[in-house]
Amino acid sequence: MRTIDLRSDTVTLPTREMMDAIAGARLGDDVSRDDPTVNALQEKAARMFGTEDSLLVTSGTQGNLVSVMAHCRQGDEIILEADAHLYYYEAGNIAAVAGVIPRLVKGDHGVFTGQQVCDAYRGDDIHFPPSRMVEIENTHNRSGGTCWTPAQVAEVARAAHDLGMKVHVDGARIFNAAIALDVDVRAYARHVDSIQFCLSKGLACPMGSMVVGDGEFIETCRRKRKMIGGGMRQAGIMAAPGIVALDSMVARLEEDHDNAAHLARELTRTKGLKIDLSTVQTNIVVVDVTATGKTSEEFIAEAGKKGLAISDLGPRTVRLVTHHGISREDVDRAVSIVEEIAMSCSGGQCSI
Ligand SMILES: Cc1ncc(COP(=O)(O)O)c(C=O)c1O
Repeated sequence: MRTIDLRSDTVTLPTREMMDAIAGARLGDDVSRDDPTVNALQEKAARMFGTEDSLLVTSGTQGNLVSVMAHCRQGDEIILEADAHLYYYEAGNIAAVAGVIPRLVKGDHGVFTGQQVCDAYRGDDIHFPPSRMVEIENTHNRSGGTCWTPAQVAEVARAAHDLGMKVHVDGARIFNAAIALDVDVRAYARHVDSIQFCLSKGLACPMGSMVVGDGEFIETCRRKRKMIGGGMRQAGIMAAPGIVALDSMVARLEEDHDNAAHLARELTRTKGLKIDLSTVQTNIVVVDVTATGKTSEEFIAEAGKKGLAISDLGPRTVRLVTHHGISREDVDRAVSIVEEIAMSCSGGQCSI
């Protein structure tokens, strides 16, 4: 029995076209800037976002880290959302490696306001760490893949810039936001100082992320990347599928969004499951399983036995992510499995 893997869009496998591109890639030493395929990808990403330059990095985590290191100095403070991936899931690297301290603001589905930035900002006082950077996550993972609109980004960026702070976007899934809202990624990039986006999630590359920004910032990121061991040699084998992804995998994200919306609508009919449909804007569905009487761990274990892999978001919340390689039939089978588990609770009777 094939397992339907809805743990994350990171489980996507490279397409045939990507594998062919890897095999045929022209290569060179990228630390010396000699890899033509890396250079082509970097030029392409910068063009797409309307920025001066871009840089290939190994992962979203590395892209966010070099951006923080480039914007900030040790002892600075960054303002970010309380459930931000950068705060929650990146192994404490902003403190351990970059030496910055987080100041958390609570967003509404991951989105906060310019006023919250002004309120969190700390003025010039010897007691305080200097507030140096604001971080926005778009789409917001733990909120269920929710989108920031360009207007919301512009408003926060204006507040941050007026206070002398930089703005970095963790856009691991920014193309999902752009497709969902039918906007160009340039509509985000023009307001902020840097964006990190992942090639290795919905775009289905085996690895890699990009950082986009102005020329001077990208040069600093390049140095920071080297410092943390991210200088790569024949990195064209990583860049080649990235070029394929930017050419051919962006528009199809809509299919993943349609599948997620279908999945969420079907699951809301199941007794014992709670889904806030307003958060299902892209390819992530967050399900509260409290009323089934099971913990998320128990729920996930049962799903696993029935051939469905899903992930844990907290003691009673699970996450399902649609992606390339998941068909509508897979989604329908996933719905049946989740329904079966939910209905098996408390002898067939759920508490809600
Ligand atoms: C919002 C967000 N930012 C950053 C990352 C980190 O990306 P990577 O796993 O490539 O380090 C992820 C990974 O899931 C993510 O969801």
